[in-house]
Amino acid sequence: MPEGKKDEVKRPKLNKDSIRKAKGIFQYLRPYALLYFVGWLFLVLSTTAGLIFPYLMGKLLGSTVSPSDVAAPTGLLTLTSVTSVATALFILFGVQALFSFFRVVIFNNVTENSLRDLRNDAFSKMVFMPMDFFNTNKVGELTSRVSSDITQIQETLRTTIAEFFRQIVIIVGGISFLFFISWKLALIMLATVPVMALIAVFFGRYIRRLSKEAQNFSANSNAIVEEALTGIANVKAFTNEYFNINRFRKNTQEMRDLNVRSGVWRGLFVSFIIFCLFGAIVFIVWQGLLMTQGAHPELSKEGFYQFVLFTIMMGASVGSLPDLYANIQKAIGATENLMDIVNGQSELDLHPGTKKNKITGEIEFKEVKFSYPQRNDMEVLKSVSFNIQPNQTFAIVGASGSGKTTITNLLLGFYKSDDGQVLVDGVSVNEYDLNHLRENMAIVPQEVMLFSGTIQENIRFGQTDATDEQVVLAAQQANAWEFIESFPDGMQTEVGDRGIQLSGGQKQRVAIARALLKNPSILILDEATSALDSESEKLVQDALQNLMKNRTSLVIAHRLATIRKVDKILVMQNGAIVETGTHQELMQLKGNYANLVSLQLLDN
Ligand SMILES: Nc1ncnc2c1ncn2[C@@H]1O[C@H](COP(=O)(O)OP(=O)(O)OP(=O)(O)O)[C@@H](O)[C@H]1O
Ligand SMILES: [Mg+2]
Repeated sequence: MPEGKKDEVKRPKLNKDSIRKAKGIFQYLRPYALLYFVGWLFLVLSTTAGLIFPYLMGKLLGSTVSPSDVAAPTGLLTLTSVTSVATALFILFGVQALFSFFRVVIFNNVTENSLRDLRNDAFSKMVFMPMDFFNTNKVGELTSRVSSDITQIQETLRTTIAEFFRQIVIIVGGISFLFFISWKLALIMLATVPVMALIAVFFGRYIRRLSKEAQNFSANSNAIVEEALTGIANVKAFTNEYFNINRFRKNTQEMRDLNVRSGVWRGLFVSFIIFCLFGAIVFIVWQGLLMTQGAHPELSKEGFYQFVLFTIMMGASVGSLPDLYANIQKAIGATENLMDIVNGQSELDLHPGTKKNKITGEIEFKEVKFSYPQRNDMEVLKSVSFNIQPNQTFAIVGASGSGKTTITNLLLGFYKSDDGQVLVDGVSVNEYDLNHLRENMAIVPQEVMLFSGTIQENIRFGQTDATDEQVVLAAQQANAWEFIESFPDGMQTEVGDRGIQLSGGQKQRVAIARALLKNPSILILDEATSALDSESEKLVQDALQNLMKNRTSLVIAHRLATIRKVDKILVMQNGAIVETGTHQELMQLKGNYANLVSLQLLDN
């Protein structure tokens, strides 16, 4: 995918629905409404002051240079002496500077306050979303979406809205002034300058679009080079060189054609600007100057200068409008996206249960049927039933994709069963308060994920209010203390993305310590498929033995040697339990399990 493309905020078609949703942003501005109002006041004041500038400046330029000369009043104000006009201009700038300062600072404050709240809300909402939300929304997209959406809104709230307003006032105010100065000239101007300015803008846009397309081609050709070079051994082994060269040639040719085409447009653009836009200005200046001639000129010299200045200012305003509008449009789209998240239904909204019974760890599945929400057609669990008494250890074995992890997903309340019941201590998981249910369970997952932070923080993740001593004890029981102690920073060693990398076995022992600290009634172990060396394997197994004491434990086992002594083994195949029993019973049965065991013995 070409760089930058995914961060692009799309511009939605504005309709009632999108605007209604985007209005949600107001709920974030409301707490700062008073401050925002004051900001707008400063904006109105500084914009109005901006309109006085060309008026006074025109006066100054049109004056005869004779400071003491006090001519008869001609304009709205009686500021005729050059010095007093200049002084007025200085004062005007001072006032405008002050107003603008407050406008910028206040708008910025309001924006940052609102966006902090919105960011917090969006993140809180997101982490509480049901698992299904994360299946349908890619995490990478979600994060980049939120960050680029927020930036878009930030830009718009902070400057674009103010700018948009300012330009509109300048255009409306400017046109009124122009008509006031000379309606004839104003009409001539209106027929030319805004048209030219708009043509220039769209011209510029088209060129930008072409160069963006060219960027995509260049990203593609980079991808071809990268693929070919990183896989060079494959390319050579399959004598694939010419295929790659041709692919690359085709791409560079297309890129060249596109760039040549955009070069022509760029040339046209420059000619257009030079000839038409400047031509239009010259035309107006010419017409204006003609009006100042003669014994009874239609236009005073001052009026002429004012006219030119207003025209330039207006031209610039008209030219900036389309981009500002596009920005606002994008911000509305961005707000819509965020509001979808903020107003979405969280797991807690969708889960009605409130029971907080003490959980001893009895587990029962009663004819549970289940398919994942996005793949309704495929039944992942087909009437699964089993029963585990408190403090028993049971294991689930079966081929990859047979539904082992799915069972734990239902137990943790990540998804609801379509049919049948998942009971913990005789109560359906749907009836429990979700947090209560999960507080009584702990999982040591297949792929251990350490968060950026210290080892201590990572272990304490299981029980945030644990004391330092408890954390150390858990690490000792998990056979992790020895390696943690050997680091110069001990428990305070940074791990995760920016910290040191732990080995697979070390990570697992940190995860075991995490689970031990939580001291759950129900423990779930999703055994790692990647083999550890026999020494760390033994350390991990010993740690697990500690962990499984005094609680109901569910072991998803890949190495069957580790589950010989468990109370019950469930053998799964294609979403159904096909055998149940102890190791001995299942061996005597000479069915699937016995088969799997003999296969693994052959492997070793
Ligand atoms: N989030 C999901 N959405 C849709 N289908 C899924 C999802 N998760 C798993 N599945 C499908 O459900 C079936 C069972 O998956 P499950 O993860 O329970 O297998 P498993 O027994 O744990 O396998 P493994 O031993 O490889 O971990 C698979 O066919 C899988 O493709
Ligand atoms: Mg699995």
